[in-house]
Amino acid sequence: MKSQGTILIADDNENNLRVLSTMLRSEGYEVRIAKNGEQVLKSVGLDKPEIILLDIHMPVMDGFETCKHLKADLNFRDIPIIFISALTETGSKVKALEMGGVDYITKPFQVEEVKVRVHTHLLLRRKTLELELTLNNIKQLQTKLIQSEKMASLGVLVAGIAHEINNPVNFVYAGINSLIKNFTQLEKGVQEVIEWIRQNKPERLDELEQIKENYAIDKRLEVIPQLAGDIKTGAIRTTEIVKGLRLFSRSENEPKTRANITESIETALLLLKNSYKNRIQIEKRYQQNLKSISCYPGQLTQAFINLIHNAIDAIPDHGTIQIEVTDIEGGISITIADNGIGMPAELLSRIYDPFFTTKAVGDGMGMGLAITHGIIEKHLGSIQVTSEVNKGTKFDIFLPSN
Ligand SMILES: Nc1ncnc2c1ncn2[C@@H]1O[C@H](COP(=O)(O)OP(=O)(O)OP(=O)(O)O)[C@@H](O)[C@H]1O
Ligand SMILES: [Mg+2]
Repeated sequence: MKSQGTILIADDNENNLRVLSTMLRSEGYEVRIAKNGEQVLKSVGLDKPEIILLDIHMPVMDGFETCKHLKADLNFRDIPIIFISALTETGSKVKALEMGGVDYITKPFQVEEVKVRVHTHLLLRRKTLELELTLNNIKQLQTKLIQSEKMASLGVLVAGIAHEINNPVNFVYAGINSLIKNFTQLEKGVQEVIEWIRQNKPERLDELEQIKENYAIDKRLEVIPQLAGDIKTGAIRTTEIVKGLRLFSRSENEPKTRANITESIETALLLLKNSYKNRIQIEKRYQQNLKSISCYPGQLTQAFINLIHNAIDAIPDHGTIQIEVTDIEGGISITIADNGIGMPAELLSRIYDPFFTTKAVGDGMGMGLAITHGIIEKHLGSIQVTSEVNKGTKFDIFLPSN
């Protein structure tokens, strides 16, 4: 007969154990037994039962204490516990239910009653698991939808802006180069005129000096090339930003290509510059001659933006973000570490959950890491986090090369 489920019965009374296990086995359940709380914890650790029938009065460790241990453990807190006890006063019943027990059966028990209650709670448990699974699937689907929606609308906007900026900035770039060339010639001409007057009209040198002074010609000849140089640097920088924006905007529907990961990281840093400059030092250690990997560069940029953005948010004042990229066997390893506020252990298991955030309304949606996780998964890579409160957080990412 197919097992109806695994039940762990804990009771120090041999007779109770025998009656309950015989009855439940005859109903098709797989039954394991324990004679005290310690045995329960050991047994649960070896193989997780679907439900536990737990006596309160037991030697070594009583039912309440056992329940407390189970509820404190993330892996076991969801196992339904039915207390069975000779304690009939309301106080014990309330305590048992408050501690997380799902039901309370008083001794001497009716075998039929135990049977029905076990059956009902097992059904409830299975339905709950089903619902949790469905909810998880819906959340994951929602994450994907939000991600593609976010990327799509942002992509269109960013592509538009990049296009609009590109034309004028090209004018500036071309113009400034020609301006510098023209100015160099002009400067030569002016110097020649001055030299000619010195040689041929020395009696008018005073007048020449006066004119030069009136128009601050020497000063201007010095300042103009500096200004032109600054404008050129600005234009080059704007072109880089536009390039970054374009790379980012193409990320939705982009084909898989071979690319250097550091380009995605650099684009992310460029786009976030405003929120960290003058406040946070970025220490980069990129291995020389990194191999390129097969990837979606725009989506990786998005993943790095999310991770670095979080690191920036985690540093309240001044601090450091270290970014290390290394070639390792089969792929590339990337670590992003900050010396910010860090996270307590209980938070770590939830950070990839969609909509999980500790930030104020409007500051964070709780989607950054869920999306990042999705992107790394799409690349068949892995992401791991270690964190310590008030010390900082480190994300280790692995991306395979093909
Ligand atoms: N580097 C970090 N240091 C400290 N806490 C972090 C760090 N990265 C993530 N967290 C924690 O994980 C939570 C979830 O991060 P996630 O990026 O998914 O969402 P968010 O930053 O809150 O919002 P969103 O990214 O959607 O704007 C954050 O609210 C924060 O509590
Ligand atoms: Mg975030």
